[in-house]
Amino acid sequence: QNVQKGKPPKQRLLVVANRLPVGARRKGEDSWKVEVNVGGLVSALMGIDEFEVRWIGWVGVNVPDETGQKSLTRALAEKRCIPVFLDEEIVHQYYNGYCNNILWTLFHYLGLPQEDRLATTRSFQSQFDAYKRANKIFADVVNEHYKDGDIVWCHDYHLMFLPQYLKENNSKMKVGWFLHTPFPSSEIHKTLPSRSELLKSVLAADLVGFHTYDYARHFVSACTRILGLEGTPDGVEDQGKITRVAAFPIGIDPDRFIKALELPQVKDEIQRLKEKFSNRKVMLGVDRLDTMKGIPQKILAFEKFLEENPNWHDRVVLIQIAVPTRTDVPEYQKLTCQVHEIVGHVNGKYGTLTAVPLHHLDQTLDFHKLCALYAVTDVALVTSLRDGMNLVSYEYVACQASKKGVLILSEFAGAAQSLGAGAILVNPWNITEVAASISYALNMPDDEREKRHDHNFMHVTTHTSQQWAENFLSELEDTVAEAQRRTKQ
Ligand code: G6P
Repeated sequence: QNVQKGKPPKQRLLVVANRLPVGARRKGEDSWKVEVNVGGLVSALMGIDEFEVRWIGWVGVNVPDETGQKSLTRALAEKRCIPVFLDEEIVHQYYNGYCNNILWTLFHYLGLPQEDRLATTRSFQSQFDAYKRANKIFADVVNEHYKDGDIVWCHDYHLMFLPQYLKENNSKMKVGWFLHTPFPSSEIHKTLPSRSELLKSVLAADLVGFHTYDYARHFVSACTRILGLEGTPDGVEDQGKITRVAAFPIGIDPDRFIKALELPQVKDEIQRLKEKFSNRKVMLGVDRLDTMKGIPQKILAFEKFLEENPNWHDRVVLIQIAVPTRTDVPEYQKLTCQVHEIVGHVNGKYGTLTAVPLHHLDQTLDFHKLCALYAVTDVALVTSLRDGMNLVSYEYVACQASKKGVLILSEFAGAAQSLGAGAILVNPWNITEVAASISYALNMPDDEREKRHDHNFMHVTTHTSQQWAENFLSELEDTVAEAQRRTKQ
C-alpha cells in the first residue's frame, strides 16, 4: 500500500504511546475483535495525508501465551498497529505504580503521593526500575520496525526514557516527544528521586513539545536548575546540542462533531433528551473518573448552588458522566467510593419522589449519544484540579453551534489559555465561586452567551488536532535539518 503508482512512497511515521488507540477483545484461542477508538491522537493523524502512520503501543490486556500474541499481532496489523506485550508484574509496577501513582500525580502539581508516603517511598525504586524496563521493551519494538528515514513520535509521561534509548541505538533517528499532561514547576519536579535521569533522557529527543507555554517554561527551568544546563530562546543546550522545546496546543477534529449532529440517530437522541428534560436546564460534566478531574469538588459546588438557590431546585439537572479508568490503582478506587457517597448525599437531600438533581453514570457513552448530550446541554462544567489541555471543553463548544451553551472552565486546565475569553473561568477548589458561576451561567442573557460562544467556536474550529500534528511534525523536520546544518559548519 505504501507504493502507489507513479508516486514516491510516503514517509513513515511511527507513533509510540503507552496505549494503542484500539480496544482488543479475545474471541477464541487465536481470534480477536479489534476496534479503533477515535480519540484526539487518531483524529489528529487521520487527516494527515503526508505520512504513512504506524502505531506502536500496549493493548491494555494481558496476553501471556504465544498463540494469543501472534494472532493479536496479525489482527492489529490490519489496523496499522504494532503491539508491545507487557506482563502483569511489569504493568503493575510500571503502569499502575510509577506512571499513574507517581508521575501522574507529580505532573499535575500535587507532588509525590501524600497517603501511604512511606509505602510509596519503599516501592519507588522497584517501580522506577520497572518503568525503565518497560521503556526498553517499547524501544526494542520500535527498533525492530524502524526503517531509515522514519519519524518516531513518542507520547506522554509513560515513555520518558524512550528518546534516550532510541538515540543510543541510532543517533540519526528523528525523534519527537510530546507530553499530554501538564509539566509542573521545577520546585515540584525536584522532589522526584529520579528527576535528573528523566530530564536527561527526554532531552535526547530532537523536539520536545507541551500543550502550553507555561509547561514548556517549567520544563526548561527544571533543566537549567536541576541539570545546570543553558536555556536558549529555542530550548535547552547541552554541550553544543540544542533540544528544541516548544508549545503545541492540541485541538479536536471539530467537523466530526458538527457533522454527527446532522445524523438521524443523533437528532432522535437529541429529541428524546429534550423531552426527558423539557422543564429543566441541563448541566453536564464528562470526565474520566480521575483524581485530577475534580469531580467531588464539582458536586460539592453544585450542592452549594442548590442550597443557595431554592428557586432552581426542580428546574436544573446535573448529568455527570464519569468514565472508569485505572481501576487497579487504590487512589482511583477510593475516589469512586468518595464520589458515590457525595452523589448519594446530594440526591438524598435535594431529590423528590419523582426526580433527582444529579444523574451520575460510571460509564462511557458512545460517540453519538455523547454528541446529543453535548447538544442539549445548557451549561458544561469542566472543573479539573489540573489538566494538560482538556478536550471535553472543545467537544462541547463544537456541538453548541445552535444552542450557544455556557462553558464553566477550570483556570487550571490548559484549555483556559485558549477558551478563557469565552468561558467562565473558575478556581475549582473554591466551591463558593463555582456555585456563583453556575448561577451566573444559568441566568446569562442570550447576547452574552452568543458572544462568548462565538469566541470559543472560532477558536475550536480554527485550531484543530490535524493542525497540531502538522505543526509538531514540520517543526521536528526543521529542527533536525537545522541540527544537520550546524554539525556540517
Ligand atoms: C491521559 C494521558 C493519556 C492516557 C489517558 C487515559 O489523557 O495523558 O496518555 O492514555 O489519560 O488513561 P489510561 O491510563 O487509561 O491510558
